[in-house]
Amino acid sequence: MGTKYINVSGPDKLVILVKDVSGISQLEERGVRRVDQLENSFTFQYQITENCNLHCTHCYQDESITYQATTEQLIAMLDKFLTAVEKWHALPRVPLSGGEPLVSPSVWPLLDHLQAYSQNHPVSGAVLTNGTLVDRSVAETLATYDVLRFVQVSLDGVRAETHDRVRGRGAFEKTLQGIGCLQEAGIPFHIHLVVHKNNYQDAYEITDLAEQLGAEYVLVTRLVPFGRGKQMNDMLLTSQEVKSLYSWLGNITDSAFEKAVNQEKAVFVNRLRCDWPVVCTGTCLDSMFSLVNKNGNHCQVGKKYIAVMPDGTCYACRRMPVVVGNLLTQSFEEMWNHSFLWKMRKKYAHMKGKCSKCPFNTDTRLNFTCMGGASCISYGAYGDPFMPDPQCSFDPEQDAQNVLERVDNIYTEYREGRRAHGNT
Ligand SMILES: C[S@@+](CC[C@H](N)C(=O)[O-])C[C@H]1O[C@@H](n2cnc3c(N)ncnc32)[C@H](O)[C@@H]1O
Ligand code: SF4
Ligand code: SF4
Repeated sequence: MGTKYINVSGPDKLVILVKDVSGISQLEERGVRRVDQLENSFTFQYQITENCNLHCTHCYQDESITYQATTEQLIAMLDKFLTAVEKWHALPRVPLSGGEPLVSPSVWPLLDHLQAYSQNHPVSGAVLTNGTLVDRSVAETLATYDVLRFVQVSLDGVRAETHDRVRGRGAFEKTLQGIGCLQEAGIPFHIHLVVHKNNYQDAYEITDLAEQLGAEYVLVTRLVPFGRGKQMNDMLLTSQEVKSLYSWLGNITDSAFEKAVNQEKAVFVNRLRCDWPVVCTGTCLDSMFSLVNKNGNHCQVGKKYIAVMPDGTCYACRRMPVVVGNLLTQSFEEMWNHSFLWKMRKKYAHMKGKCSKCPFNTDTRLNFTCMGGASCISYGAYGDPFMPDPQCSFDPEQDAQNVLERVDNIYTEYREGRRAHGNT
């Protein structure tokens, strides 16, 4: 019997709904979890320090954060979040980031706190690192935390030349050593590559390297031009370069599912990203009607995500530093009620330029797939998150008609029973 499934991939979940139950049991044996609907989750991106042992050329860090909360204050802010999200019955996700979280002595007490919390509550932890400080002892300590769902390691190229151009000489080798230690300790890890002109050719090889290294997921995200990254404004990819790269990456997860079903080792590209551009039109639009389509996902600002800095400042997103409150002085609920977040929740109604006429923003059958693309890149480029994503290649005037015709056809096929819901 052929396996039919809806696929949903995300940073810490792999959801497959199958008709062929023997297929799913094989996957479950390989550690793939099965759930029947998308989890209602909320991400608290926790920048626990601004300190870092590297000085990457693209980094969005700037000099605006000058106070470092104590470990006790960091735990108290985390508790405000956990209490609020528990009331909302959402799964809290807490990636510890920075700066470099592994230079901060607070990282261990925070992991202890999350671990203790996880004894009675669902919670998913992660550490986002440059990998250079991970040795065998650090990896073995990390492996003792069940609450840690994964470690994300940055790789800005598949070779030293490219990676070190961003991260400094010797970084590539140290990062690969760190990854080796994570793998030996049995910690699931993801690889994150930020693309720009200097490294995007390497992105075509990143899934091969990730597979060799044993990564679970690969994320390829676009450079956001602010902080030091602003100086790399002229390194932003053209819309055509973005389209080619993401179209190519978009196919990887499909073949990974096939491999997983056949019990082969597979690496997944995370397409559930809000900065994943619209690249899929024409017949490829069919993927819109599986739970995860090849056009990624719309911006999560104001919905299920907040970024908190080491001085308590809350940014709408780490990649869009609009200040919406401070958790040292405010409750989580008060901060979450900020007017900017309310405006972003209705982003579709405020879109400017070509996005105001684009079916990926206006046609409810397309489920508001895009809503203007990556708000953070528009904000970085124009200071306005409601401007169209500068790296979008879709032209509503020329292309909308084709898209709408394809969607009409798909709906007709559903009505006439020629297409079943859920098949990819
Ligand atoms: C700020 S770092 C913190 C964790 C750790 N130091 C690291 O490098 O992975 C988190 C992620 O943000 C990415 N990042 C930094 N600056 C960026 C920018 N301007 N645009 C897009 N991503 C960026 C980094 O490459 C890294 O993968
Ligand atoms: S990207 Fe990470 S490692 Fe590089 S300077 Fe920024 S915080 Fe440090
Ligand atoms: S025109 Fe705007 S809404 Fe349409 S795909 Fe491009 S960025 Fe998204």
